[in-house]
Amino acid sequence: MKTRDWIALDRAHVWHPFTQMQDWCAPDDDPLVIERAEGCTLIDSDGRRYIDGVSSLWVNVHGHRRREIDDAIRAQLDRVAHTTLLGLASPPSIALAERLSRLTGLPRVFYSDSGSTAVEVALKIAFQHWQNRGERQRTKFVALTDAYHGDTVGAVSVGGIDLFHEIFDPLLFNALRVSVSEGVAGFARVLDAHPGEVAAVIVEPLVQGAAGMLMQPPGYLAAVREVTKERGVLLIADEVATGVGRTGKMFACEHERVRPDLMAVAKGLTGGYLPLAATLATDEVYAAFLGEYAAKRTFFHGHTYTGNPLSCAAALANLDLFESERTLDALQPKIARLRELLAPLATHPHVGTIRQCGFMVGIELVRVRNPVVPYDWEDRAGARVCRRARDLGAVLRPLGSVVVLMPPLAISRDDLDRLVAIVHGALPVLDE
Ligand SMILES: Cc1ncc(COP(=O)(O)O)c(C=O)c1O
Repeated sequence: MKTRDWIALDRAHVWHPFTQMQDWCAPDDDPLVIERAEGCTLIDSDGRRYIDGVSSLWVNVHGHRRREIDDAIRAQLDRVAHTTLLGLASPPSIALAERLSRLTGLPRVFYSDSGSTAVEVALKIAFQHWQNRGERQRTKFVALTDAYHGDTVGAVSVGGIDLFHEIFDPLLFNALRVSVSEGVAGFARVLDAHPGEVAAVIVEPLVQGAAGMLMQPPGYLAAVREVTKERGVLLIADEVATGVGRTGKMFACEHERVRPDLMAVAKGLTGGYLPLAATLATDEVYAAFLGEYAAKRTFFHGHTYTGNPLSCAAALANLDLFESERTLDALQPKIARLRELLAPLATHPHVGTIRQCGFMVGIELVRVRNPVVPYDWEDRAGARVCRRARDLGAVLRPLGSVVVLMPPLAISRDDLDRLVAIVHGALPVLDE
């Protein structure tokens, strides 16, 4: 089939996420149809090549079509593609749970399929944990302003990005809000105002990704852990974006030696191959769910494809590669190189701030630098720069007026250099 036929069928039938379909279907700009990939390069249906600058939405780790992950999935396919975890066990899900426990120090693993469901599970576990322990008043959650935890209704309730969430307000439960700018005192204030009422605090550790790569000050996460521990409140770390190597360590919590009570992991877990998520819990949280069947302490929650064996096999191969290739060691000089490459961009007349944590980068575009005049959301500044970057050979996806760079951890030095050069080359579009 020719590209134009794919596009016509796509426009007739596929409803794309986070997309104004009227724009998508506007005939003056055709979408890319990605047909295949090699390493960190995406290849479209006309054979054109692009650097995968946001890791296929923050998931890819070792590049596409890694032989080791491909082989692991094929080997599992020769055994069985899917069996359920409802009433049955399976070797890949067992092996992966053990592996994740060792990596995080959290021994209990509950599988689901996406970042949103991993968060939803964490919220429900936190809530029911207190119900089961007889602390019935602990029904509230505390979350950060500008948080993003996914798109299911519970995850949206603890999220705080008005553009995405405002419309659903009547469907949501009320979360108590704290701003990072208040420092950890904000959490202390809210927890002290609601003694015995808070089930859990939820945070994206170190970086609020979807808010535009907003960085927390050093020590913040550790202080949040202290405050929650002192007040006997659970801490949920949403490592969906930051986990699996993104920040330069396997999990962002490691930077501050924090062990949360619950952790949500998804995105990079399978190396960007298949949907899989995990919610990890301490033994203490897990113990609250044990009891006679009739006591109804069971966690009555689960998804059809929970712990899918193909996904677990991909995840195991992904984690094997981290060890055999020493991915995190190899990443450190690339993080430094990226910082170096970005430095000259910082003086560009349309660049406000550049925020980087490991391989998570947000380049904030501004209409005027000094004094700062931001772009309005309707200016689509980020989208325009990313559209030009596509012509120059990179696939990017912005967050409002923030250009995001999240290349696969395996990207070569040359491709990294080229990626930043492309962003530089795309910025003049803002003056056209
Ligand atoms: C911190 C965080 N939590 C949860 C999610 C939701 O993940 P998913 O899109 O896989 O449902 C995201 C997605 O970007 C995220 O960044």
